[in-house]
Amino acid sequence: MFHRDHSPCLFLLLFLLSTFCISSISHSQQSTWASKKMRMREKVRTMFYHAYDNYMTYAFPHDELKPLSKTYTDSLSELGNLKLEHLPQDYNGSALTLIESLSSLVIMGNNTEFEKAVLWLSENLKFDVDARINLFECNIRVLGGLVSAHLLASDSSKKLFQGTYNNQLLFLAEDLGKRFLPAFDTPTGLPYAWINLKYGVMENETTETSTSGCGSLILEMGALSKVTGDPRYESAALRALRKLWSMQSSLRLFGTTLDVETGEWIEFSSGIGAGVDSFYEYLLKAHILFGKEDFWRMFNSAYVAVQKYFRHGPWYHEADMRTGKATYWQLTSLQAFWPGLQVLIGDITAANSSHREFFHVWKRFGVLPERYLLDHRMIHPTEKYYPLRPELAESTFYLYQATKDPWYIEVGETIVNSLNLYTKVEGGFASVKDVTTMQLEDHQHSFFLAETCKYLYLLFDDSFVHETNYVFTTEGHPLPVLNAWHEKLPETYIPTNWTFMKRQPAASRISSMSLQVCPAITLKSGQHIESACHIPDARSDYRCLTDEDCGVDSTTCTRRSCSMAGYCGLWIF
Ligand SMILES: *[C@@H]1O[C@H](CO)[C@@H](O)[C@H](O)[C@H]1NC(C)=O
Ligand SMILES: *[C@@H]1O[C@H](CO)[C@@H](O)[C@H](O)[C@H]1NC(C)=O
Ligand SMILES: *[C@@H]1O[C@H](CO)[C@@H](O)[C@H](O)[C@H]1NC(C)=O
Ligand SMILES: *[C@@H]1O[C@H](CO)[C@@H](O)[C@H](O)[C@H]1NC(C)=O
Ligand SMILES: *[C@@H]1O[C@H](CO)[C@@H](O)[C@H](O)[C@H]1NC(C)=O
Repeated sequence: MFHRDHSPCLFLLLFLLSTFCISSISHSQQSTWASKKMRMREKVRTMFYHAYDNYMTYAFPHDELKPLSKTYTDSLSELGNLKLEHLPQDYNGSALTLIESLSSLVIMGNNTEFEKAVLWLSENLKFDVDARINLFECNIRVLGGLVSAHLLASDSSKKLFQGTYNNQLLFLAEDLGKRFLPAFDTPTGLPYAWINLKYGVMENETTETSTSGCGSLILEMGALSKVTGDPRYESAALRALRKLWSMQSSLRLFGTTLDVETGEWIEFSSGIGAGVDSFYEYLLKAHILFGKEDFWRMFNSAYVAVQKYFRHGPWYHEADMRTGKATYWQLTSLQAFWPGLQVLIGDITAANSSHREFFHVWKRFGVLPERYLLDHRMIHPTEKYYPLRPELAESTFYLYQATKDPWYIEVGETIVNSLNLYTKVEGGFASVKDVTTMQLEDHQHSFFLAETCKYLYLLFDDSFVHETNYVFTTEGHPLPVLNAWHEKLPETYIPTNWTFMKRQPAASRISSMSLQVCPAITLKSGQHIESACHIPDARSDYRCLTDEDCGVDSTTCTRRSCSMAGYCGLWIF
């Protein structure tokens, strides 16, 4: 079914970029790096099992581990639910952390534990519970975890099962997917943010949801339709996405929250962080997974608008979708995924410069604070926490794949050491409540196992992505890129001759996709091409201390420098 030499993913293109860099490093340096990577990989493996074994001992089958008190929380119904209404009395959890760990177990090569987990889930997991859950969270964590694990389990070349795999995970995923469908029964097709797994949409349910809540369902629900042959999941997600798309402003921007009954925006300000992030991510990843040209066009248009209105040098602020005027100047921990996305389109320079800013903030505080106010150069007074988020590790993994620059290995090492130093406790890994004091909070989020540990492991050992191309969902669950799922693959992304590609010199070390985002065109005077690379920054008066503060100029794609008076610009003498 899967033919490697026709596989389309950019991922492998990015591997090829690396051959050049590697050759400039001497043999002895290479073996030093190889042994460092192996040592770091084992360190990450130890972290994962410390988190996993403590979860299994103190929390399973409940949802997440409380590592300080060594107990559990049934957080599936709490996720994103601040008021904790509708918590079922006798709810015993949905083994959320186990589901989230499935693909990580496969990546780390623990087939026996994977099989054991699958068998337990198939016998015990039930979704017919009176629990009000967040559709977005349940989709990316539970449905995504199950569909991804199903695809891995049914890949016979992986031989994950001693016994026979009878699609047990698929039945669970399908049962869950059916329970999602009533959420989409609205006049607009935009889904409710909350749904009761047993009873559907509750009376008086809030009609407010987020852009991510409507725009990042297509990977999981699309994949569910592909594996079940039932088109309803993909159709529902696609209809919601198209409706959302139609709600963009004349500047091609989107807001953050909206009403699913009226289809009107509630919050007009948005950026690339909370409430919006995975919407952009899924436009591109849906294109890679399903090969539809439409997704690419949507992504490209949205990406250009982001670069035009949100970007300031290496940072991204927020802006009002109606006017494009900057609203909040802040760096949030969630935004750190963006460089990883930019790597997938080949925009390595932009990715590198943003990633450096996030890493700089990480080094300054030891971990990433949730929200950092760029204009005041201080942490947001009420968002000082770091809940073991994966985004910086994720971007570091992508950048290392694309460049093989050993510097990213050092970044990964710093991340691993900080996590072990500040967040490891006897009972697992604890979130940081306040990065200025490193005071801990009694919560080990499931995404620590699904994403943080996984991306760190893949940074040091990427053998999992050698045989098959995968798209990682926003929760880090791998979905294989299969020809059979592609309706029509744009020709530019199909490398027809890998041997030949491998020998291409450094000058062509950009993916064909990046040419569309950042066309290598010499601009004649007066000619204006709107691509992400030819958009000037919104403000030219950003204060800086060093050239590093100024990032890359988007008009010429060259580095900007910091003037003696402390302003960024292209100082050409
Ligand atoms: C949860 O566990 C308790 C104790 O084992 C049991 O009585 C109850 O029925 C369980 N609830 C559900 C929904 O299965
Ligand atoms: C798989 O995981 C289990 C549970 O943590 C552990 O006991 C076992 O040693 C692991 N096996 C491998 C091969 O890593
Ligand atoms: C729904 O809201 C109405 C008006 O506020 C109220 O009278 C009714 O009791 C609510 N129903 C439920 C089930 O909460
Ligand atoms: C990333 O940027 C730094 C300068 O900030 C540069 O030294 C390095 O070569 C860049 N790496 C890549 C892969 O572009
Ligand atoms: C790939 O390209 C190289 C160089 O042009 C050529 O020698 C080789 O035969 C090609 N391989 C295939 C499978 O087309």
